[in-house]
Amino acid sequence: MQVLSMLYLWLKAGHVIFVIFWMAGLFMLPRYFVYHQEDGLTGPMHATWTDRERKLLKIILWPALTMVWVLGLALAMVIGAFQQPWFHAKLGFVLILTAYHFWLAGYAQSLARGEARLTGRRLRMLNEVPGVTAAVIVILVILKPFS
Ligand code: HEM
Repeated sequence: MQVLSMLYLWLKAGHVIFVIFWMAGLFMLPRYFVYHQEDGLTGPMHATWTDRERKLLKIILWPALTMVWVLGLALAMVIGAFQQPWFHAKLGFVLILTAYHFWLAGYAQSLARGEARLTGRRLRMLNEVPGVTAAVIVILVILKPFS
């Protein structure tokens, strides 16, 4: 019993640590896109920004996404969350964040090819997505409504 509660606490600590890394990356990448587009999509600065975006995705964003999911699902198993309505709602919002992550990775690829699909203003507005979604997720996980 004590082993299970220690496991729960360690999993939760790890989960929250990787959530912080993931969110930091999700906030940074569209900012990089704005500066990249302002510096132009040809020449040496284009190559530098493309490399920065690739590294942010490879070193922070993809590993953090994987760890948040692995530790989150392990936590859900330990506490039996799969039957609880707050968890279903949380999963819905986490899927929105995950889809946003994949969309950003796709945008980085098109920028690398020299295609800017959105204006800087639109990219700045996109930062509302992780902000609002993360706020809803934290409220769901702390208050556990409808359970
Ligand atoms: C990727 C899929 C995710 C799964 C499967 C998942 C699952 C879980 C589970 C089962 C718990 C334990 C809840 C409890 O002990 O009462 C938890 C805790 C937590 N999760 Fe997630 N989570 C995920 C993603 C996220 C994201 C994206 C965020 C924030 C943006 C987040 C924030 C938190 C926080 C702050 C806690 C700790 C709450 C507390 O103090 O009890 N999680 N998560």
